[in-house]
Amino acid sequence: MNNLAVQDKRRKAKGKDVFKRLGFAFCLLTFTFLTACGVRSDMQDQPRYKAYKKSEFFSDKRGSRDMVEGTIPRGQLRENKAFYTGKVDNPNPAAQAATTMDATGNTLVTSFPNAIDEFPIPVTKELVDRGQERYNIYCIVCHGPLGNGDGMIVRRGFSKPPTYNDDRLRNAPVGHFYDVISNGWGKMNGYAHVIQPADRWAIVAYIRALQVSQNPENALKTDTTKTGPGSAPPKSGDTPTGGKP
Ligand code: HEC
Repeated sequence: MNNLAVQDKRRKAKGKDVFKRLGFAFCLLTFTFLTACGVRSDMQDQPRYKAYKKSEFFSDKRGSRDMVEGTIPRGQLRENKAFYTGKVDNPNPAAQAATTMDATGNTLVTSFPNAIDEFPIPVTKELVDRGQERYNIYCIVCHGPLGNGDGMIVRRGFSKPPTYNDDRLRNAPVGHFYDVISNGWGKMNGYAHVIQPADRWAIVAYIRALQVSQNPENALKTDTTKTGPGSAPPKSGDTPTGGKP
């Protein structure tokens, strides 16, 4: 055999080798592919709805169902009712707050059957200072620096809120102020989405300070003999956090 013939034979053998290797790789790929998409009968493949998908099964046609009543997100169990709502523990449903509307269209309330009368957290100088800061951010624009309802927005035409410095609101329980901040009142929007519970109490404490400052002779309603359900001391963990709900 001459040299050329030997080279040719070697080349052919090499070609066959490459083909063999390619074939093996192809088989391996096919195998992997089939295993990956093969029929699996585990939970991954059970019939299910994607979030917000339409459903023909439920009468309201919504695939996403409501939470079971009473569901509480982890870490959101708000056990201390006084602190989180400003209301007494066992409200009397028959004793609804009596409201009237004044000439300017403001809603006046004169009875507060379910509002707590005492702060559910200790009132400290820090709390009042924090309240002043928050008040100046969120409330002063309408209620004015002293709470007389003459803030800049009101001077420019917004409805005038009632003054904090009349007998009605001076004698209103703290729970009422907390409720107004949380849920709004008549023409005023609620601030629950921007002011956390501890800060709402701080603002209420500051409003009390404003009321005293504007009427130092007439003491506030301070009936120390009263010990309603709302006067229970706060549980640990309910102290002002300055941020966390
Ligand atoms: C955009 C203006 C505006 C802002 C800001 C505002 N209020 Fe008011 N507020 C009003 C108006 C108007 C009323 C009267 C609403 C009504 O009676 O219909 C009112 C009423 C009230 C009342 C009286 C409720 C009653 O029993 O008559 C309180 C207390 C109060 N606001 C607290 C606050 C506090 C605290 C803040 C800040 C967190 C705040 N408001 C922010 C406009 C505002």
